[in-house]
Amino acid sequence: MAQLWGGRFTKETDQLVYEFNQSIRFDQRFFAQDVRGSRAHVTMLAKQGILTEEERDEILRGLQSIEEDVAAGKLVISDQYEDIHSFVEAVLTERIGDPGKKLHTGRSRNDQVALDMRLYIRDEVDETVELLKNLLGTILRIMEENTETYMPGFTHLQKAQPVTLAHHMGAYFEMVKRDVLHLKSLRERMNVCPLGSGALAGTTYPLDREYTAKLLGFDRASDNSMDGVSDRDYVIEYVSCLATIMMHLSRLSEEIIIWNSNEYRFIELDDTYATGSSIMPQKKNPDIAELIRGKTGRVYGAMTQILTIMKGIPLAYNKDMQEDKETVFDAIDTTKGCIRLMEGQLASAKWNKKRMADSARQGYSNATDAADYLVKKGMPFRDAHSVIGRLVLTCIEKNIQMDELPLADYRAESELFDEDIYEAISLKTCVETRITKGAPGDIENEIRESRAFMAAL
Ligand code: ARG
Repeated sequence: MAQLWGGRFTKETDQLVYEFNQSIRFDQRFFAQDVRGSRAHVTMLAKQGILTEEERDEILRGLQSIEEDVAAGKLVISDQYEDIHSFVEAVLTERIGDPGKKLHTGRSRNDQVALDMRLYIRDEVDETVELLKNLLGTILRIMEENTETYMPGFTHLQKAQPVTLAHHMGAYFEMVKRDVLHLKSLRERMNVCPLGSGALAGTTYPLDREYTAKLLGFDRASDNSMDGVSDRDYVIEYVSCLATIMMHLSRLSEEIIIWNSNEYRFIELDDTYATGSSIMPQKKNPDIAELIRGKTGRVYGAMTQILTIMKGIPLAYNKDMQEDKETVFDAIDTTKGCIRLMEGQLASAKWNKKRMADSARQGYSNATDAADYLVKKGMPFRDAHSVIGRLVLTCIEKNIQMDELPLADYRAESELFDEDIYEAISLKTCVETRITKGAPGDIENEIRESRAFMAAL
């Protein structure tokens, strides 16, 4: 065991305690961020005259060699070190001697870990946005290809009014678009550098915190050193973004599962994105969609976990905060994997356009349009509603659809009906005449705006 703080101790740490306390198993994930932070720190120390330029250069060379050797597999990050910060400093000192011992001047592991976590989450936020962009691109392509793919729109999972697949997928475009905006706004607000907060109360060295912040791509240094070391709000906010993304993916998964069922058959999943049964040879199951739906619970779990970890922590740093990592890393890996898989699943799926249109044609989803037909000919809406209600009943009794009902039956209910009723309740009319902003008939505008959103990203 290599520890940075042996001085005031007279006994070795108990082995179980060591294992319970150490974090290198999981915080080695931000090795790159740790080295990056150290580079900026020593660069600033030298600029301020706290280290000499020679010391700085030796440290920078040492850090470079550590980074290269880890990348080449020549140096293994082992659990002989308490955490990733101890590993880097110990190996550096082994390699370059005394200057290595000066790396930690004016710094605590508390502001160091706060920095590493922030750099790491910032990188992950950027990567999540990239993955979502890819997903948006696929959704947009499906929209563009399906402006005339008619399907039933549902409320209560009952056929309600006809829409198009383009319009239905447009709703998911909006959800994912909000996810992107959510992440981008988090990126802006979290871009504040905690390094230089020290253990909790800053330091007596004349650090230039704004300079370090700039070197690391932050907008500025944090305002209060106690908050600097103990703020994990951005982690909570990021996990909340992930939970919302998963909720959106889960809703889409649920629809894919329904559309893939034998009763619907709206969608045909590609063989590469489905699985079979060990006993039932005919089965082709939507496991990926089901797993995305299931894994949503895991990410919600991380949300509860991180909120709970933080709720009882007095200022400033407490070791509880080490528990902010594993669960969050898992939520990140899970969500990123699910975004990729959802994109691949959608991109490779085929749409059964005929089934969808037939389904829209059945189930009286054009009844509102039939009522609107009468309203346009002067009948008050409430009266029209009840006339059409009676006609729907007639259709149900005769087991036919509204476009199969003879004109004589229509005219028996109202003289306002003419031959043009059939045109007025066709799927094409139902969809194309719904031209309010954001409605299925407005899809060309919606697609144009979606394209503009993508172009501006
Ligand atoms: N491994 C620790 C963490 O993840 C690093 C900070 C340790 N600080 C301390 N005072 N023990 O939170």
